[in-house]
Amino acid sequence: MSQWLEDAIFYEIYPQSFYDSNGDGIGDIPGITAKLDYIRELGCNALWLNPCFLSPFGDAGYDVADYCLVAPRYGTNDDLIELFRAAHAKGMHVLLDLVPGHTSVEHRWFKESCKAEKNPYSGRYIWTNAVWDDVARYEGIAGSLRGISERDGSVAVNFFSMQPALNYGFATVTEPWQCAVDSPEALATRQAMKDVMAFWLDRGCDGFRVDMAGSLVKNDPGNEQTIRLWQDMRAYLDEHYPDAVMVSEWGEADKSLRAGFHMDFLLHFGPSHYMDLFRCEHPYFSREGKGDIHAFVKAYRKNYELTSGKGLICPVSGNHDMQRMRKYLDPEEMKIAFAFLLSMPGAPFIYYGDEIGMRQLDLPSKEGGYERTGARTPMQWDGSGNAGFSTAEADKLYLPQDPAADAPDAAAQQAQEGSLWREVQKLNRVRHATPALQAHGGIEFVYCQEDEYPLAYLRTAGSQRVLVIVNPAARETKFLYDGKLGKALYTLNGAPSQAHGIVTVPAASAAFVEVE
Ligand code: NOJ
Repeated sequence: MSQWLEDAIFYEIYPQSFYDSNGDGIGDIPGITAKLDYIRELGCNALWLNPCFLSPFGDAGYDVADYCLVAPRYGTNDDLIELFRAAHAKGMHVLLDLVPGHTSVEHRWFKESCKAEKNPYSGRYIWTNAVWDDVARYEGIAGSLRGISERDGSVAVNFFSMQPALNYGFATVTEPWQCAVDSPEALATRQAMKDVMAFWLDRGCDGFRVDMAGSLVKNDPGNEQTIRLWQDMRAYLDEHYPDAVMVSEWGEADKSLRAGFHMDFLLHFGPSHYMDLFRCEHPYFSREGKGDIHAFVKAYRKNYELTSGKGLICPVSGNHDMQRMRKYLDPEEMKIAFAFLLSMPGAPFIYYGDEIGMRQLDLPSKEGGYERTGARTPMQWDGSGNAGFSTAEADKLYLPQDPAADAPDAAAQQAQEGSLWREVQKLNRVRHATPALQAHGGIEFVYCQEDEYPLAYLRTAGSQRVLVIVNPAARETKFLYDGKLGKALYTLNGAPSQAHGIVTVPAASAAFVEVE
């Protein structure tokens, strides 16, 4: 595994909304390059960019029309190559978003595959033999698209109906039109995706976040064939691009890390109970203190034990598919949430704007965003027009911005001691300086009781032992700990104290304390 992951803190960028360098109302790649110092100053040293390739943008770019061409609205391939170069010069790394499961209907492969005459792309997607045949009842297929082709048949889709599923085969073949995973058609698709990865890795990209990674092989209930497919992809990378880094949108680390991914996300779906922490009626990190983190820890511990040494489980502050954390927590509560996120094992991911507590807005759908749209609004940089995002007229912006008089912005928070931005920066610094808090440091849960506060866990690396204590509740709490608390590496809202083996934890506080 690439050494830099040990101390990686990622920053996720939704390119549409980060920084508009040419005044057309939408973010772009040179805009990202221009803001690298901001990201570094915050303490993040790696980026994940949502898809930035040619696309009709029916799903914000997750409907790719050409995997090897940057969408003109974001710039050129050379701009992206320059971003890689500039990032590397600052000791940073860049992951692109690989969408291997489906394309847009505008992709050349799809257009070819619609033709009546057989050609090398006829089997690139999952087509039935006749237009009224039902393709949608198989595991891993979201629906079908029919009536759009010269050839007879309907085609499987993966997500929205204009995202036809690429053909990686079926684990169990039950119909004549289904291909096996080792059929020439399925293997050709696999090779095509390896070629896409090679194209960008050759140009300086450091790896990929992989969209819907667990869904490639159809009719594969336990994902065993999808796991084998990714093991093959990983073997290819290990041979040709040993430094490439792969993080999966899978949400089941026991499967994805076995499949060969270096990292998997904690997500809003899957068995993680991640939503219990920040995004539910009574989130654990709310000051009201009515949350429960127990189910999360139980699931986390199980996955951690199953995957320990095989890769990383990545905690995220949010992403472009979730409601903003700020919808559920205020900035003071978010500080404690960040103390947790930035002291867990794995590589943490900060979603752009979460570091200043950007709000979830209530907006009509844009580019297939639906309820996700309000978490994708343009970054609020400063107090100037369009919050410094763009020089375009406000009604030309990709999405409207937070109209509130107290809308947070980065410049104000950078200047203000005690702001959320400053706290995130401080936490990032402590993490970078403390091996026990980093990716591979061990974790042992010391105090985690159902419906109780605080949460305490021990992080260890070599002889370094750091006890993390987070108490989001607005009340003092106590727990039994027989080790001796030493020097505090970080405290927020007071330090815990210890007497006769009982640790007393101040209300709404977080602390990282060295222990023997
Ligand atoms: C997951 C992506 O994160 C999401 O934004 C997208 O809509 C779907 N996959 C389909 O690609």
